[in-house]
Amino acid sequence: MSNYIERFSTSERVLHWIVTASFFTLLLSGLGLYSRLFTGYFTFFGGGQNAILVHKIGGVIFFFSSLYMYVNHKKDISTFDQDDKEWVSQQGGYLSRKAAHFNIGKYNPGQKLFALYIAAATAVLGISGVFIWMPLLFPRWIVQISLLSHGLMFVGSIMFVIVHVYLATIGNPGTIDAMLYGDVKKNWAKKHHPKWYKQTTGDNQ
Ligand code: HEM
Repeated sequence: MSNYIERFSTSERVLHWIVTASFFTLLLSGLGLYSRLFTGYFTFFGGGQNAILVHKIGGVIFFFSSLYMYVNHKKDISTFDQDDKEWVSQQGGYLSRKAAHFNIGKYNPGQKLFALYIAAATAVLGISGVFIWMPLLFPRWIVQISLLSHGLMFVGSIMFVIVHVYLATIGNPGTIDAMLYGDVKKNWAKKHHPKWYKQTTGDNQ
């Protein structure tokens, strides 16, 4: 009998890595637009004009792929049950030395909040991005609010993504297997997502 169970299908993983690749492309091409401190990053793209073009293309890819990822995840991330509340009240056990066990489904509340934030950021970054893209077509105040919200949502996203990458790799060994290979160890699933493990396998041990 196999020690692994499937967590993500190939298409789910490809979608996640398209979102990731476009996110980091947007980060690199957008840094120089965000502040003069970072204009050196334009050299990656052969100058400012090219960086803006890459940012626009990357923006369209990120918007639609991230929106699609949200639609795929929606049912797993938009409800919080009693077990999730218990996880929140004990901060997921991250701030305690004692071993903590929570009856968590496919995603824990931290993951759900992250996915919901990314969905909201995708909408705000995408819509504000259109106003910034064609500033002469819209009233000045709309473009100004767009510039502010684009910058704020970007800063929030990068902070969340840094935490996400840490928790999905070094913070919780074995988690990255889910996005690389699609399968995770059964012991990993029993430890981190016992309710999801029981629902998926029917194994109540
Ligand atoms: C090198 C960068 C990244 C790595 C290593 C990574 C890794 C992972 C892993 C391993 C999972 C599965 C977690 C699980 O099975 O419990 C996951 C899920 C997810 N990732 Fe990433 N990811 C990266 C970048 C991103 C970016 C840039 C975004 C969005 C902007 C993103 C959005 C998500 C979402 C929404 C989920 C599902 C919910 C969650 O687990 O929080 N990821 N990621």
